[in-house]
Amino acid sequence: MFRIAPSILSADFARLGEEVREVIAAGADWIHFDVMDNHYVPNLTIGPAVAQAVRPHCVRADGSKVLLDVHLMVQPVDALAVAFAKAGADLISFHPEASQHVDRTLQLIRAEGCQAGLVFNPATPLDVLEWTIDKLDLVLIMSVNPGFGGQGFIDSALRKCAAARKLIAREFGRSGRDIRLEVDGGIKVDNIRRVAEAGADTFVAGSAIFGQPDYRCVIDAMRRELRAANVLSGGT
Ligand code: DX5
Ligand code: ZN
Repeated sequence: MFRIAPSILSADFARLGEEVREVIAAGADWIHFDVMDNHYVPNLTIGPAVAQAVRPHCVRADGSKVLLDVHLMVQPVDALAVAFAKAGADLISFHPEASQHVDRTLQLIRAEGCQAGLVFNPATPLDVLEWTIDKLDLVLIMSVNPGFGGQGFIDSALRKCAAARKLIAREFGRSGRDIRLEVDGGIKVDNIRRVAEAGADTFVAGSAIFGQPDYRCVIDAMRRELRAANVLSGGT
């Protein structure tokens, strides 16, 4: 019920395929892929060609597929969303303020056969969820300002997470659709439990995992914390 999604932003880019395989062998559930355009955010990372190269590495030893979770920090969104869908992304999320027509972008992503998510910056309210939740597979709460790995966790994300969890539960009651609640930024072994208790079910961690020599040791420690979390159902 809980998913850990290592962000390859903090991986060794010179050995990306190997890093993806290693972190999957260490127990990663999803691979989080951060796309920054030096326009919407002040940093420049990786594009669809890299996603396409990484895609074949997103498999477990038993042959099962690991979800490629593409987080777009780009503006405009639409053309790149389609390019990432064609490159093999399973889930594509974007920031609502980066798209002129949020509903259209969501439709576009789904029409490409991908799951769709919306991402909320620390100062962005959740209002748009009222009008979009029926088209979402994921809500992503940023617990840092997007643009860089290795920043400190912003505590107001916990309150926002709790608010998002309520909306997701309401949508589940209405339609029976299960929507993931992911949190991204500054997640470590020593705060992941609080984030779960606030309602998150999926956890992005970049520097906490790739900054350590033993990925399994970090992921196992995170899972121990998650098992100890005081949650009713452990998310949905
Ligand atoms: C921030 C990115 C995050 C980041 C997380 O803009 O969206 O995914 O890589 O890195 P850590 O876990 O180091 O905060
Ligand atoms: Zn991210």
